[in-house]
Amino acid sequence: MQKYQEMFLRLDGFLHRHRMLWQQVPFYGELTWPSQHAELYQAILALDEHSLSLFEQDDTANAEILLIKWLADFIDGLAEIATDIDALHDKKGGKTAGPSYQMAKFTDVGLPGRKKQQVLGFIHQLQADSIVDGKIGKVVDWCSGKGYLASHLSYALDAQVHCLEYDKSLCDKGQEQQKKQASKVCFHHHDVFQPLPEAIKLATQGADLHSALHACGDLHIEAIKQASQLGADMAIAPCCYHLIRDQHYQALSLLGKDSRLHLSKSDLRLAVLQSATAGQRVKDLRLKETTWRIGFDLLLRQQTGANTYQHQASFAKKQLAGSFLDFCQFMWQQTNQTAAIDWQTIDFTDLQNQAQLKHQQVIRLEKVRLGFRPLLEAWLILDRACFLIEQDYQVKLPKFCDWDVSPRNTLILAHKLNNK
Ligand SMILES: C[S@@+](CC[C@H](N)C(=O)[O-])C[C@H]1O[C@@H](n2cnc3c(N)ncnc32)[C@H](O)[C@@H]1O
Repeated sequence: MQKYQEMFLRLDGFLHRHRMLWQQVPFYGELTWPSQHAELYQAILALDEHSLSLFEQDDTANAEILLIKWLADFIDGLAEIATDIDALHDKKGGKTAGPSYQMAKFTDVGLPGRKKQQVLGFIHQLQADSIVDGKIGKVVDWCSGKGYLASHLSYALDAQVHCLEYDKSLCDKGQEQQKKQASKVCFHHHDVFQPLPEAIKLATQGADLHSALHACGDLHIEAIKQASQLGADMAIAPCCYHLIRDQHYQALSLLGKDSRLHLSKSDLRLAVLQSATAGQRVKDLRLKETTWRIGFDLLLRQQTGANTYQHQASFAKKQLAGSFLDFCQFMWQQTNQTAAIDWQTIDFTDLQNQAQLKHQQVIRLEKVRLGFRPLLEAWLILDRACFLIEQDYQVKLPKFCDWDVSPRNTLILAHKLNNK
């Protein structure tokens, strides 16, 4: 058994053992874990504002490290498993003696700064890895957007790159740009969930490498499945694990299929959740929305006798411009309540005070879930890695950029063994 498979099994056991702590969402209501983790529950609710702010700082990578360190006093084995996950990533740069691609003048025109760093990091890792020891003549780039990665892969590897992209306007813009830069990139307007038309099949036949930079959920899963059927090498940077067509996650690997974890879309969302960095105005608006939603939930429970959270639809931000009473009346209609309500008798000040108190508890309790975020993301990445190992691939998982450039910074590099 290889190190990724061993780690997957360890993580799987850990996540399953502690599933109550990360699968239950504090915002929606009653948690069942406090009786079993009384010390943790009391300590997290008692967290002072300063400590809380350390877990919410803009440097989210650091915030996560501090949070895990804090939680580790209450959750046995958390610190060790988090350290071991980190060690799984081959260090950035890999074989540093390898060539380092520099973008030629004018080829980065229109390329946003962060995207540029992602593209450079992606190509650097690819070149540093043994995958490109042989000549790569043809690449299929999945979900290429305007082809930022594709064009630089083409320059760096001197390869023909075929882009699969279903947004026609991006294909047109990308192709136009390629003409100016005279690169060997060709766009194919194609939905990757549909069978490959004969012309694209012919054009992409025999590709040495399949790449994808930030293809969401099912898109990169499709890339991995199809490229592995062809026995091609891969360089895939996954993102948005929750953007899947099924209601529940379908594991790829045999080890994953054997897991006792059942992951809903809401569970999967945790893997990409972090305290979003935002300006003060946006933060204030978010705070108001969450508190008012909690307040309305309390009102619904009072008025209807419900003891579970009832779904609240999304709404235009202008609904937050009026009073809390206006908001509750609007939401009452939206949730199709049939019960009679006497708005005059409701003490909205008291309701708002209760909501603020509950909000303080929710943001603290939510930190327990967030401590499991990197574990869940690692589980998902390792499921992909284990699948590829089962298909006779050699796999590496370097990070291709820093967290602040993109938090989805793991690159799955897979080289098919015994292929040629
Ligand atoms: C997050 S963007 C990544 C774009 C590009 N790889 C990059 O990093 O700039 C995902 C891309 O997938 C494309 N896409 C979404 N669904 C698709 C599908 N079914 N088939 C092909 N492309 C798709 C979108 O149009 C979008 O350009």
